Amino acid sequence: MKRTLGVCYYPEHWPEDIWADDAAAMVAAGLTWVRIGEFAWSRLEPKPGHFEFDWLDRAIATLADAGLKIILGTPSATPPRWMLDRFPDMLAHDATGQPRKFGSRRHYCHSHDGYRDAARDMAAILGKRYGRDPHIHAWQIDNEYGCHDTVRSYSPAARHAFRDWLAQQYQSIDALNRAWGNVFWSMEYASFDDIDLPHQTVTQANPAHQLAFRRFASDQVVQWNAAQVAALRPLTDAPLLHNYMGRVLDFDHFALARDLDIASWDSYPIGFLSDRLEGDAAHKQDYLQQGDPDMQAFHHDLYRGMNDGRWWVMEQQPGPVNWAPYNPAPRPGMVRLWTWEAFAHGAEVVSYFRWRQAPFAQEQMHAGLMRPDNTAAPGLAEARPVADEIAQMPDVEQVRAPVALLFDYASAWAWEVLPQGADFDYFRLMFETYRALRKQGLSIDILPATATDLAGYRLILAPGLATLPDGLAEVLADSGATCLLGPRTGLVTHDLSITLPFGPNLPGLDLTVTQVESLPPGTARPATVGGAVHHWAETLEGSAQASMTLTDGAPLLMGNGRLHYLGGWPDPDLWARIITLLANRAKLPLSNLPDGLRLRDTATHQFGFNYGLEPIDWNGKTIPPSGVNWWPAKG
Ligand code: GAL
Repeated sequence: MKRTLGVCYYPEHWPEDIWADDAAAMVAAGLTWVRIGEFAWSRLEPKPGHFEFDWLDRAIATLADAGLKIILGTPSATPPRWMLDRFPDMLAHDATGQPRKFGSRRHYCHSHDGYRDAARDMAAILGKRYGRDPHIHAWQIDNEYGCHDTVRSYSPAARHAFRDWLAQQYQSIDALNRAWGNVFWSMEYASFDDIDLPHQTVTQANPAHQLAFRRFASDQVVQWNAAQVAALRPLTDAPLLHNYMGRVLDFDHFALARDLDIASWDSYPIGFLSDRLEGDAAHKQDYLQQGDPDMQAFHHDLYRGMNDGRWWVMEQQPGPVNWAPYNPAPRPGMVRLWTWEAFAHGAEVVSYFRWRQAPFAQEQMHAGLMRPDNTAAPGLAEARPVADEIAQMPDVEQVRAPVALLFDYASAWAWEVLPQGADFDYFRLMFETYRALRKQGLSIDILPATATDLAGYRLILAPGLATLPDGLAEVLADSGATCLLGPRTGLVTHDLSITLPFGPNLPGLDLTVTQVESLPPGTARPATVGGAVHHWAETLEGSAQASMTLTDGAPLLMGNGRLHYLGGWPDPDLWARIITLLANRAKLPLSNLPDGLRLRDTATHQFGFNYGLEPIDWNGKTIPPSGVNWWPAKG
């Protein structure tokens, strides 16, 4: 399949007489796709029941006449003001109990049935009008679930729905009291109707209660999306997708993806570096105008695992954004690099956000491919070369990576409510694991912990997996891979109480975790091989062989040849040594990459991406700073 480029466009922001020129310029820039409509409700239905589709008909015709393929968004992320007159209680409430008001976007509660049905009906109306339109090649449902912290709502509608959800999950209030350990502090309930949302308690609410609320909130998003899917499915054969985000873990994306055809996500590398990632000042300075070298790839690999490998970048940063604390411009070359990196990881489409910078409203400081005065912004010049390169080179075909990393949203929620240490963050642990693997040149698939077939992987890692899913131990054993669990894998139950007998309870591995400690910054427990454990340390006991120890003799890595458990959070130096040991056992070749270089192996090519500031010589080619190069795949 040929990879293609696209752009996000808002015809309702511009006079109609420039649409045709815009469309022609998009095609000239090498773009194939255009996404429209996802925030246009106030123009599609300016008054309740009064629809105006003529302008959208003309916009679709103009874009399609130029040869563009259209992705049509359902506008449910931006209900118009009149919707609040219809449903005054549709707003989400924040954790202080206050409604989150009209005047920006995503102002709705996923538990409000009335608004969910209105959004579904709007999807159906659009589906009836455009579902068989040959110019509509894909549908985006809503926009960025979870953006602006919108998964968990503390509204009356949410409380009501939570009680119903709990009743379905636990069937009897006694079962719930037992599962949550509500005898503690006399928290027992007599009825599901007694249960409130876990906020505004005097001190910490029961972690089991908090985890249940997170599971519930995730399910609400999945069901909310499913309502629009159900409306659209009978009306169109075009694929349905949603645009996920970077480091948003508040709902289970794997669960939501089951209802969709293609995963897509919105990639803002420079914004993420400043807004959303840990890292010391030197790291942030080194990658200030390139973005973190692993953040984009991590999400590419995560979202590739959602819909059998079908995924897109729906929004690609083309210049400075407006929403991070600091918003520098990409270095020349980075827009091309990010685009190629997505293709190398299997993206079918990379679509830039947005065509022209808006001179008004919240995002007026956010660059597009065009400036607000309608001249080309720097990002535009980088799209065309990629389009030409794609046309010239053979297609990039994906192959199963040698390494699998198991990712689990519920584990992120579990450790969020029971961190036992200020620095225990699931995403951070996963990301550092991923970075350590990539620094040694490995390509990685990220998969759900419920995966049932892991055959063919040489190395499988599942750090921080709170509860071992039923059957995972057998799946790991059957895979034939070298496996690493821990730290903090299998140590709690589904309802967030300590696993007894002490975890991780892996067949054939006599090992228990008898104590855990969190370590403040600056505290490290050195390992004999070099490097150290920081943030988190576990006391391991049992007869399993210790393959690595701390300098005080305590076991750190225990295992039986194929299955290993790691009892601490490694610093980068220790991670490198652990991966070297495991890769040796798995007979997996490693490369020691220079700083800033990252590789991606596909069936057809190996790609090299230089996120650094100096040229890098690799495989007989020089990769300039902010550059990309590729070679035919070996063997
Ligand atoms: C995304 C969103 C877009 C736009 C963009 C700005 O979060 O989907 O609508 O706001 O960010 O970077």
